[in-house]
Amino acid sequence: MRAKMPKHSNLVFVLAAMLLVLVSPASCAAPPQPRRDPVVVPVTKDPATSLYTIPVRFYDNLVIDLAGPLAWSTCADDHLPASFSCQDPTCKLANAYRAPSCPARGGDDCSRQKVCQVYPYNPVASQCAAGNLVHTRFIANTTDGKNPLSQVSVKAVAACAPKKLLASLPSDATGVAGLASSGLALPAQVVSSQNVANKFLLCLPRLDYGQGVAIFGGGPLYLLEGQPELTSTLEHTPLLKNKDNPSYYISVKAIALDYAQLPLPRRALATGGVVLHTRVPYTLLRPDVYSPFVRAFEKGMNRSDAKVAAVAPFGLCYRSSALWNTRIGYYSPSVTLTLEGGKNYTMTGTNTLVNVNNRDTACLAFVEMKGVKAGDAQSPAAIIGGFQMEHFVLQFDLEKQQLGFARLPYYVSCSQFNFTKLH
Ligand SMILES: *[C@@H]1O[C@H](CO)[C@@H](O)[C@H](O)[C@H]1NC(C)=O
Ligand SMILES: *[C@@H]1O[C@H](CO)[C@@H](O)[C@H](O)[C@H]1NC(C)=O
Ligand SMILES: *[C@@H]1O[C@H](CO)[C@@H](O)[C@H](O)[C@H]1NC(C)=O
Ligand SMILES: *[C@@H]1O[C@H](CO)[C@@H](O)[C@H](O)[C@H]1NC(C)=O
Repeated sequence: MRAKMPKHSNLVFVLAAMLLVLVSPASCAAPPQPRRDPVVVPVTKDPATSLYTIPVRFYDNLVIDLAGPLAWSTCADDHLPASFSCQDPTCKLANAYRAPSCPARGGDDCSRQKVCQVYPYNPVASQCAAGNLVHTRFIANTTDGKNPLSQVSVKAVAACAPKKLLASLPSDATGVAGLASSGLALPAQVVSSQNVANKFLLCLPRLDYGQGVAIFGGGPLYLLEGQPELTSTLEHTPLLKNKDNPSYYISVKAIALDYAQLPLPRRALATGGVVLHTRVPYTLLRPDVYSPFVRAFEKGMNRSDAKVAAVAPFGLCYRSSALWNTRIGYYSPSVTLTLEGGKNYTMTGTNTLVNVNNRDTACLAFVEMKGVKAGDAQSPAAIIGGFQMEHFVLQFDLEKQQLGFARLPYYVSCSQFNFTKLH
């Protein structure tokens, strides 16, 4: 049978479609905006709280919160009027996620209450307060991945919170910058104001090493001259979404200590998932994961001679002067998280053993989750904390929904970014 020629009507349709394709880019769609240079900010670790802050204005210093859906500050020097009505779509966006200690959604009366009411949240004190939503600007620098280039003013929408919401935050902090995957978190706002790529990069500093670096736009990143550009060295794993919150979840298939897989209860890691949190200083493990983990680590360490009484919140500690200190931290079993896709997130002593202040003591930097039962599906199996993300390059790619990661070589550190402006 011969192929039929297109009927008359089909031909007209094809011609019309061709015409549309030819005409539409010029007449209807705006030409795509060129991507602009990424935005760089220094990241400081506060020794008292182990939280990380970024300066986003001349006077604002915000705690970064990977799980936070909003940016908020005390707005002290702004005197900004509330700029949104409660019917504004931006107001709905700002209220899309509420922390458990905030008033539940749905009860708000939009007809009587004309100004947009939002609920900024302090993730360390688990406190919530009512506040206004305002237009503001964040001042930062663009970057070529090597140095700051020029100052930019990033248009943003932020919440204003009462001063009491700063409880438990670093003494020089004025608010929280949420970095979650939601519309009013800082990454999305830099994307819409600056037209950078929809990804961001964190290189969290270790204590006493100086400032680390965050890049909105995701990279490139150079820390040491003569070394390859760092985002070209990343391994990837999918970022998973949770319908209840905008945090970043990853799928951990197995945990291994020195390449020996940790025996865990069936589906322990899949139950509740694994989430990344900068507000948690050390990785928290649910009891069903913590118990076998700490036993295997102690066995792999094989240093019962150097064991000392555990210092809270840690459960396993050693006399640090008796341990062998290497360029990759204390000599200890490596801890490997095998991720969805088969790539390994491998940690050495740098990320597994922490010195406890003013004592000759180093402790396993993984902590048992409190108030949670073994296997409780309401709780993540693991909350990966800041200490385990330091000295890694982490790229949260929201376009491809994937996490890129690379451990830095021992001779490079996140504090080597050159913050001297190019002239
Ligand atoms: C931009 O970079 C310069 C040079 O490092 C620095 O002095 C300035 O504070 C930066 N601006 C902002 C807003 O971070
Ligand atoms: C990841 O680690 C596991 C356990 O140590 C090992 O069996 C596996 O071969 C590693 N995979 C890769 C891609 O290195
Ligand atoms: C543990 O340490 C002891 C004493 O240092 C040594 O004799 C033994 O072989 C070690 N065990 C393992 C499994 O490495
Ligand atoms: C930092 O960058 C500036 C400008 O390119 C350069 O002059 C300076 O040598 C760099 N500093 C270091 C430590 O590499």
